[in-house]
Amino acid sequence: MTARKSAVHVVDHPLVRHKLTLMRDKAVSTKGFRQLLNEIGMLLCYEVTRDLPTELVEVETPIERTMQPAIAGKKLVFAPILRAGVGFLDGMLDLVPSARVAHVGLYRDPETLEAVEYYFKAPADIADRLVIVMDPMLATANSAVAAISRLKARGAKDIRFVCLLAAPEGIERLTKAHPDVAVWTAAIDRGLNEHGYIVPGLGDAGDRMFGTK
Ligand code: PRP
Ligand code: URA
Repeated sequence: MTARKSAVHVVDHPLVRHKLTLMRDKAVSTKGFRQLLNEIGMLLCYEVTRDLPTELVEVETPIERTMQPAIAGKKLVFAPILRAGVGFLDGMLDLVPSARVAHVGLYRDPETLEAVEYYFKAPADIADRLVIVMDPMLATANSAVAAISRLKARGAKDIRFVCLLAAPEGIERLTKAHPDVAVWTAAIDRGLNEHGYIVPGLGDAGDRMFGTK
């Protein structure tokens, strides 16, 4: 693995910013919240895959044979952190339908804010693939750090992290713990409150997605 200085990319496209503003509104329905998360997932996927290598392949058009670019290398792995990370998955799979999926089940203990693992299932050959870890919220980064450590222990070497909202504290902790992992986020908010929630944020993403509160 080539260790590189971690980068943080803020995807501030007007469509992303507009949809994120709609999602912050506490009056948005569960259905609306899920739909918007799905749409933003698609837009973030476009950005996080922007520099994927391509190779020339032969194709026969109705007119002639020609060499044209196609994505090179092995299929990607999308790794949603359960539950809320699943909200990005469909949108990303719409753009990259052949991607493999690794599920990382973690919840944040409400007292300690530590991540607790309850499920893990990843493709066997993850070491040879680019892994895109996804979770709408990067708050303390305990969940992201734990998920990425778990994927690395399984052999993943080339990892990117995508979120919707990040706190500066989370970005600092994640980039310190995993300096080789670049981050894509739609916005960086002001900080965390005393319960570890992002402010102004959008509340509990999992609860808003699944209507569990
Ligand atoms: C939320 C969110 C992240 C985590 C972020 O999950 O989806 O996984 O909190 O917080 P952190 O950066 O401080 O770790 P939660 O634990 O609420 O589980 P859920 O997705 O099942 O609701
Ligand atoms: N998890 C969430 O769902 N929201 C936050 O603001 C912080 C952690």
